[in-house]
Amino acid sequence: MGPIQTSDFDLLANRDRAVTLRRGGTASAAEQPIGAAVVGYGYWGPNLARNLSERPELQLRALCERDPAQRQAFLRRFPHVSALADFAQILEDPSVRAVVIATPPQTHYDLARAALLAGKHVLVEKPLATSVAHARELAALAHARDLVLMPGHTFLYSPAVNAVRDLIRAGEVGDVHFVTSSRMNLGKYQSDGVVCDLAPHDLSILIYWLGRPVVEVAASGRSVLRRDVPETAFITLSFAGGTTANVQISWLAPRKVRQMIVVGSKLMVQYDDTAADEPVRVYDRGLDVQTPSSFGEHQLIYRSGDIVIPRVPSAEPLSLELQDFANAIRTGEQPRSNVALGLEIVAAMESAACSMRDGGAPRSVAPQLERLQAA
Ligand SMILES: NC(=O)c1ccc[n+]([C@@H]2O[C@H](COP(=O)([O-])OP(=O)(O)OC[C@H]3O[C@@H](n4cnc5c(N)ncnc54)[C@H](O)[C@@H]3O)[C@@H](O)[C@H]2O)c1
Repeated sequence: MGPIQTSDFDLLANRDRAVTLRRGGTASAAEQPIGAAVVGYGYWGPNLARNLSERPELQLRALCERDPAQRQAFLRRFPHVSALADFAQILEDPSVRAVVIATPPQTHYDLARAALLAGKHVLVEKPLATSVAHARELAALAHARDLVLMPGHTFLYSPAVNAVRDLIRAGEVGDVHFVTSSRMNLGKYQSDGVVCDLAPHDLSILIYWLGRPVVEVAASGRSVLRRDVPETAFITLSFAGGTTANVQISWLAPRKVRQMIVVGSKLMVQYDDTAADEPVRVYDRGLDVQTPSSFGEHQLIYRSGDIVIPRVPSAEPLSLELQDFANAIRTGEQPRSNVALGLEIVAAMESAACSMRDGGAPRSVAPQLERLQAA
């Protein structure tokens, strides 16, 4: 097995300076920090606010949070930054050029739309929106106004996810036959349901790894606590080119599991996001079929070779995601977590919801995407 390719984090780190110089601009003008506001300071917002405040390309100018207790929590951490309840006030502030939205999914469309209409660049937490129609409208609005609209698919910036992608893209894994994924723990319960909460992670990672669109989705689930709000779902995804993936997501599990296994024709790869030191293991294991020299039965040969644990660089994915957002604003380059990916994920989620209502019958993702392309 050849060496793991380092992913393009280093490129990302130097990219905005290079593009500035290519365009003939001065590095100092382009390096003025971009004023940004965070919207929502619940579970995830504090992570975004902290990373944003630490990135040199960005400057944390304000928080919008409707809960007074959460505004107080923010002010204890950032006493010199304003914390407001009224989003309109943030949108009126010319020093805020970008907003980072970390509110529940059903609020994403209204908040992102208002921000884009006010001329702000938008990073909106996953999922981009809760329907294809809304996601499409936001994408069109950003495009028409030449603004960045970026969904926050954080795993695309995870070094471990990138290490697996490098192996797949370098052909070391061989043909990817299938992927299994388990993403479960106890809670955190949200009214949008587990598919809206957790499926965007698996979808973003799988589309990024395979570089191919999802063409069909079959999904079933269980709503134990509240009718029509599934806490557990079982999703089978078919990708263009034939790879399939089976994804189990749940808020009802005794412990945290974040494991994906890629089964390829040459190697098998395990990615365990809970294993901090050794998240990726590469197994030279499989079953080979030996063609008989004469007329007779095919023989199956078990291959049980080395297990390699590649070194995975440590970096905070959220920080890299914000760096990519700032770079997209400065240079017009597409962020890795881009709006086309966000739309594809919303389309696959919508197909999963249709399949669940339809007793688990497979649903094509193509009609959703055709509607997107026609728009
Ligand atoms: N990328 C990741 O790994 C990751 C992880 C967790 C959550 N998320 C995403 O982050 C988003 C927020 O999730 P969470 O778990 O932090 O939710 P949460 O419910 O814990 O927090 C949301 C906060 O937003 C505030 N809020 C709601 N509507 C508002 C409005 N209109 N204006 C101002 N404030 C408002 C609420 O008061 C609350 O404090 C979701 O989209 C979720 O999918 C992403």
